[in-house]
Amino acid sequence: MSSNGAPPSKPLALLKQQESISSLKPSQLTYAEILALLQGQDDEWLFNRANLATESDFNKQVYLRGIVEFSNHCRNNCNYCGLRADNRSVKRYRLSIEEILNAVDTIAALGLGTVVLQSGDDFKYSVNAISTLIAEIKQRHNLAITLSLGDRKLEELKQWREAGADRYLLKMETFDRALFSRCRPKANFDDRIARLIYLQSLGFQTGSGIITDLPGMTDEILAHDIQRLSEMQLDMLACGPFIAHAQTPLAQEPNGNALKSHRVSAILRLMNPGANIPATSSLDALEAGAREQALKRGCNVVMPSFTPTNVCADYNIYPGKNLRQNPATERLKQICQQIQNHGLIASFSRGDSKRTPYVSRH
Ligand code: 5AD
Ligand code: SF4
Repeated sequence: MSSNGAPPSKPLALLKQQESISSLKPSQLTYAEILALLQGQDDEWLFNRANLATESDFNKQVYLRGIVEFSNHCRNNCNYCGLRADNRSVKRYRLSIEEILNAVDTIAALGLGTVVLQSGDDFKYSVNAISTLIAEIKQRHNLAITLSLGDRKLEELKQWREAGADRYLLKMETFDRALFSRCRPKANFDDRIARLIYLQSLGFQTGSGIITDLPGMTDEILAHDIQRLSEMQLDMLACGPFIAHAQTPLAQEPNGNALKSHRVSAILRLMNPGANIPATSSLDALEAGAREQALKRGCNVVMPSFTPTNVCADYNIYPGKNLRQNPATERLKQICQQIQNHGLIASFSRGDSKRTPYVSRH
């Protein structure tokens, strides 16, 4: 029986039949099967299988990443995002290299194995400044470094890889060309895909992702997005629900749905064994507890923010982002406790992708 009480329609019924007959490879879900699962035809099967797959890949470990959101300046104008250039009500900030290093020192002191450096598309930080930062972090700490710095030039990406960066995140948000252009008027669809492929060729562990329930996104578009995302053989895959931000052109649109986002991460888990899939903070901004729940539905990564408290609330991509009072150490403790409450283990290791054999530059 499906969650809405109707008998499962053909694709899913077939899927289950095959499973009992031969050993089903959920990594090869078809478009029709993905669509049926997205529409909630068999949440119980989907979430159970995704959880089993996550456990078999990661042995109940949840990888922790410390994220430093070091600048909220952005030259882009994505219609869904509170940091878009046209939003004049944002208090913009840029951390100095020293301030970034202080946050990284805290992350290392707490024993985390990965730092994520993220900003808007802010080209004020020169290629050399970022290279020096990467080298300094590697000099000081045994940390994996993930960069999430947007559409920088190919030569710059190469230089950062050579400086020792391990991973790069570049989210498409959707693989539907028309929806992409509508939502991201200043970004170039083909260039972004080409960048992802280039990042992979440089040996970065490469990540991308989608926003579920973006205004204009149908289940059909989402099913194609999942297929395209999975075809790219990425090391990191993210999805999180759309949340309407008051100072954007999409202010009046309805918020996304946590369950839909959970279905997407569960399907991504089945289709991408060994990949790292974060439980995104937008889930919690939408619905208390939804991020934790995602850890039992295919996700295996949590990324607490270590952006200094005097600026973190200004990294206001969507409402509810980075709202917090208590210090980093306490928040980390709480997250570890939540992970334990679900019978999982908070892991302080580097947490490399298990998808491709990885060669560190250091
Ligand atoms: N709702 C949900 N996620 C959003 N992001 C940006 N704006 C929103 C929004 N309104 C996500 C994008 C971006 C990441 C930093 O935050 O996926 O890559
Ligand atoms: Fe800038 Fe990223 Fe926001 Fe787009 S989603 S406006 S690129 S910060």
